[in-house]
Amino acid sequence: MGDLPPPARGLELQSVLGVSAHAGGHGSTDELLAMCHLEDGARVLEVGCGIGAGAVYLARERNCQVTAVDRSPQMIEWAKKRAAGAGVGYRIEFQVASVDRLPFDDGAFDVVVAESVLSFIDDKDGAIAELVRVVKPGGRVGINETFWITDPPAGRGTEVQQLGVELLSSEQWQALWEKTGLDPRDSRFYSIEAAEESKNLRRWLGWRCALRIWWRGLGLRLRDGAAFRSLRAQLRAPAGLVDCLGYGLFVGEKQPARARAAG
Ligand SMILES: C[S@@+](CC[C@H](N)C(=O)[O-])C[C@H]1O[C@@H](n2cnc3c(N)ncnc32)[C@H](O)[C@@H]1O
Repeated sequence: MGDLPPPARGLELQSVLGVSAHAGGHGSTDELLAMCHLEDGARVLEVGCGIGAGAVYLARERNCQVTAVDRSPQMIEWAKKRAAGAGVGYRIEFQVASVDRLPFDDGAFDVVVAESVLSFIDDKDGAIAELVRVVKPGGRVGINETFWITDPPAGRGTEVQQLGVELLSSEQWQALWEKTGLDPRDSRFYSIEAAEESKNLRRWLGWRCALRIWWRGLGLRLRDGAAFRSLRAQLRAPAGLVDCLGYGLFVGEKQPARARAAG
């Protein structure tokens, strides 16, 4: 795994605690899947699956054949544990892999989704091209990405960048999506409200997982106070910025090769 890109700082923190999420929680996932015309039993690839909450949902509630990848081996371990705990471990194929080099054939999936992943990637065009490559003609690709809805207070944007996140504006995301060659395309934009988002987070993680994360945080605090304080500072940095953020759902359909060549 030595050739994987290094993790962003904020993501290292998330993988230590075993936490991952995206804006809008289950509600935005359901909307994204509906925009992707997801059918029960579909072959779905989830890229950047984090702790596996989405992969488990796809396997257990939507009866999909799920493949889930993440660049972080530690995240994949959390995801496998979650899937096993939910009784669907045998139905999800987990792999450590990076979005810029997906280890799958062209057209291998009916639907490909990535929720809150591309903001952590420098080469967003290249990553989107990989998502499009592995979906079948007639299949759909869907992403959920966070953007600045208003400018952050002075200096605070830099704190987010230091966590390894490059947040674009909604116009920049839209411009990237226009270049995908997917057609038809659909983009929807929402603002984020802090109280609603913390409810979404609790529901996405589940109360048992939220309790375990709290417990792990306590363990770290007792073992290594300095590391705990650094992690807490990283967590608090973006928390006060939620009201400056929105998220976008972007979906498009891959055309057959002939139509793509003509277009
Ligand atoms: C904010 S978390 C979102 C996780 C999950 N989609 C969710 O909603 O819970 C971002 C995830 O993207 C993964 N990631 C970051 N860069 C990646 C890359 N190059 N390839 C695959 N996954 C990546 C991180 O390890 C992390 O698990």
